[in-house]
Amino acid sequence: MIEFTVNGESVSTEAEPDTPLLWVLRDELGLKGTKYGCGIAQCGACTVHLDGMATRSCVVPLSSVSGRSVTTIEGLDGDGRHPLQRAWIEMQVPQCGYCQNGQIMQAADLLANNAEPTDDEVVTHMNGNVCRCMAYTRIRKAVLRGAEIAREGK
Ligand code: FES
Ligand code: FES
Repeated sequence: MIEFTVNGESVSTEAEPDTPLLWVLRDELGLKGTKYGCGIAQCGACTVHLDGMATRSCVVPLSSVSGRSVTTIEGLDGDGRHPLQRAWIEMQVPQCGYCQNGQIMQAADLLANNAEPTDDEVVTHMNGNVCRCMAYTRIRKAVLRGAEIAREGK
């Protein structure tokens, strides 16, 4: 039995210790916002926060999550109104949408540590998150806009 916290709630699972966290989030807990893209930490679709840090959940074994805190896109903001989520809607970022939750979770990690990132800092931080629809320009602009919304305290 492995116990940890997801979006502020205690959960436990009897899955094997080497089961990827992503499997448990999606298949046991029904948190489908976190996506499976590559399974080898190369695309970012599965990004969640582990103790506040953006992490590829497809390569995190359950054994290393014990006692720790996981946040998924569903728990990023109770009302779905995180500054980045508002910026994403304002700027109509998604195309197919598949990569977008991972993009937002990756970007939220940046804004949590850097309230006013430069364009280059955004590009560098988001570098490992792949978008097959090539929405990179809108993603970059939306991260900057999200930072702006957060700074304005709206
Ligand atoms: S599914 Fe985890 S990085 Fe691609
Ligand atoms: S919006 Fe389609 S993969 Fe990014």
